[in-house]
Amino acid sequence: MQTVESLVDLRNTVHTWKQAGQSVALVPTMGNLHEGHLRLVDFAHTRADRVMVSIFVNPLQFGQGEDFDRYPRTGEEDARQLVSRQADLLYLPTVDVMYPRDAGQMTRVSVPGLSGRYCGQSRPGHFDGVATVVCKLLNQAQPDIAVFGEKDYQQLMIIQRLVADLDIPVKIAGVPTVREADGLAMSSRNGYLDQAEREQAPALYQTLQQLASDCSNEPPNFRALEKEGANLLEQAGFRTDYVAICRKQDLEPATDRDHDLVILCAAYLGKTRLIDNINVTVDQHA
Ligand code: PAJ
Repeated sequence: MQTVESLVDLRNTVHTWKQAGQSVALVPTMGNLHEGHLRLVDFAHTRADRVMVSIFVNPLQFGQGEDFDRYPRTGEEDARQLVSRQADLLYLPTVDVMYPRDAGQMTRVSVPGLSGRYCGQSRPGHFDGVATVVCKLLNQAQPDIAVFGEKDYQQLMIIQRLVADLDIPVKIAGVPTVREADGLAMSSRNGYLDQAEREQAPALYQTLQQLASDCSNEPPNFRALEKEGANLLEQAGFRTDYVAICRKQDLEPATDRDHDLVILCAAYLGKTRLIDNINVTVDQHA
């Protein structure tokens, strides 16, 4: 596996591949790789001849008081894992490569509407930071396909919207959430949980499963179910940020005319904020 830090080196390698007629996939990450990330790499291999992975802990998407400073940086182990999954290239841009200008003077990318709700409401500016860095990574690497996890479903939707609105010539693919044996969605932030919190954590997905099955009740009252979900989480020891039953295609609040839904939630265990989601298909209501 080749490792590059500069834009010139990245572009040269991608250019060589494209000259040879090879298709290229990009898997953007912030590192501290786990099986969830690695599954994206595996998927990328099924869609492209060459797979590159970027690791960049993006300061722009962390709010004040969030965990940018203590976000786990495990570069050597990450590189080992990527070799074991046959990644072709690891791109490790520095902050200077990504953001050569003062923060106040920098062009930013913003996806209005979608970015302001759910996680965006609790983390103002977060999705502008994500949209900006992903837009830059796509322009830098110019992959044929970029692969993201459904674990961050709102992020995936925002990236799809950004690529469509800005006519970026790349296909965006989503990969289902990879979970621990007890159902907890894998996440770099799970490492912040102490033992007691780790034992409580599977209740997040259990609550989503419960709500998903309740959505089939006739007639469904989604707003009441959201409140019920929040209560269930509180009973399990979480501090609920939000539970939202949404239309899958645009994340608008679901109504009883909608059938393809996703339930999004975020909740704190101690200081750790966990997110998860579940897809629901409800039958035609009378
Ligand atoms: P990060 O949290 O490192 O995640 C990188 C990619 O891995 C994202 O697409 C995320 O959805 C996916 N992922 C994480 N956990 C997963 C799991 N359990 N199952 C499936 N996929 C999973 O998301 C980011 O980084 C950043 O916001 C980024 C897109 C890189 C922009 O900075």
